[in-house]
Amino acid sequence: MTNVWARKSTAALQDEAAGADSLDDRPPLLRRTLSALNLVALGVGAIIGAGIFVLTGHAAAANAGPAVSLSFLLGAVTCAFAGLCYAEMASAVPISGSAYTYAYATLGELVAWIIGWDLILEYAVGAITVAIGWSGYVVSLASDFGLHLPTQFVSSPLDYDSARRAWAFTGAVLNLPAALVVIVVTSLLVVGIRETARFNNWIVAIKLMVIALFIICAAPAFSTANWITPGNPAGTFIPPNAGFGTYGWSGVVRGAAVVFFAYIGFDAVSAAAQEAKNPMRDMPIGILGSLIICTVLYVLVGTVLTGIVPYDKLNVPDPIAVGIDAAGVGWLAPFAKLGIIFGLTSVILVMLLAQPRIFRAMAHDGLLPSAAAKIHPRFRTPYISTITTGAVVATLAALLPIGLVGELVSIGTLFAFAVVSIGVLVLRFTQPTLERPFKAPAIWIVAPAGALTSIFLMLGLPADTWWRLALWLAIGLVIYFVYGARHSRIVT
Ligand code: ALA
Repeated sequence: MTNVWARKSTAALQDEAAGADSLDDRPPLLRRTLSALNLVALGVGAIIGAGIFVLTGHAAAANAGPAVSLSFLLGAVTCAFAGLCYAEMASAVPISGSAYTYAYATLGELVAWIIGWDLILEYAVGAITVAIGWSGYVVSLASDFGLHLPTQFVSSPLDYDSARRAWAFTGAVLNLPAALVVIVVTSLLVVGIRETARFNNWIVAIKLMVIALFIICAAPAFSTANWITPGNPAGTFIPPNAGFGTYGWSGVVRGAAVVFFAYIGFDAVSAAAQEAKNPMRDMPIGILGSLIICTVLYVLVGTVLTGIVPYDKLNVPDPIAVGIDAAGVGWLAPFAKLGIIFGLTSVILVMLLAQPRIFRAMAHDGLLPSAAAKIHPRFRTPYISTITTGAVVATLAALLPIGLVGELVSIGTLFAFAVVSIGVLVLRFTQPTLERPFKAPAIWIVAPAGALTSIFLMLGLPADTWWRLALWLAIGLVIYFVYGARHSRIVT
């Protein structure tokens, strides 16, 4: 059994990054084809999805009112702290394991395993969540065209009532569209990273166009008169507080925790480090560039949406469609839904791209069976871990209800953010001379702020979600001590 606190030396990591490692990285290696633009597109591809298209309405109606744009700004600040830390780590340690690898270099093998295991919640469970949302939009678009898909094949057989903590059967058989989109995306991911990036660039362009069209077409209908509601007769930007987390400043903060989901994904860029042409320069561009673009768009969408529809009418699954109707540009609705479907597809794609690469990194270190590190001789992709991930995600997306999985994604991601923020500071101590092509500014403020804001947002999530996180991590620990600790190949 290895020393569970053993850290990977940065020399070993740099050898690995250069492909010189003698373990199982013998050719075929992953293919280095991604440019800075591809990386930004991957980030935007992973970020813009169910968060902006669905949760904005809920956060405005229940928490922040028109000030939902402030919630978006606050969410962005949390992500910016963590994003700067990810960017520094990704430029200094450009290996495809993302937060897992950074933890291995800084906090030791056990913490690395915990983070690797935790990241399954972000990426695999994230893909499940968004695939279920994708199915919902497909059903809705089909019914706009008079095509009513049979309910028992487009929804989960299970339902979970989080208020009563009770499971129920819905009578449905499975959510077939959710499983199908995962199967199609997985097939693309097996065939090649270049093909995947090209496809992703296209869908990202389409979803950006739809968002831009929405902002441009709906903005003329903006009026602060829409801020007036029965709960906010004076029509103030921040409606008067009505209990903790409901409007007022506490509502803005709670709204930030809700819309945090909308930012998840920028860190997925770091999982593609070994497929980037120039990772040291381009990783920070990909991570921070995508975060900035999305923040600007989110603040604009939040501002326009609450300026064209009174916020108390936005607690719906399709707030953008409601906004389009209110702005009198109904012709845009089918395009918007189609763009949203494309948008959600790219989120699934990047999540399913990141997950197998993290498994690959873990298998490379002996913490998972070596098959998960295998690269396809022709496609040069980690095909076994990609197919396994796709099969499990497709099955669970077909069977689980969306309410159960969404919050698990947020808590898992925030946990990883906190660890990376701490890790970056530890590395400054333990390896002061390490070459860091990108250095996070004011690290003594940025890193602690990244950890604290992440923990703060975690505290806003329900107790149930915390229990599920604890259970998940406990299962992970058992697997580590039964398998990983005995097979670890750490070379310190
Ligand atoms: N940020 C991604 C979304 O909103 C997970 O769908």
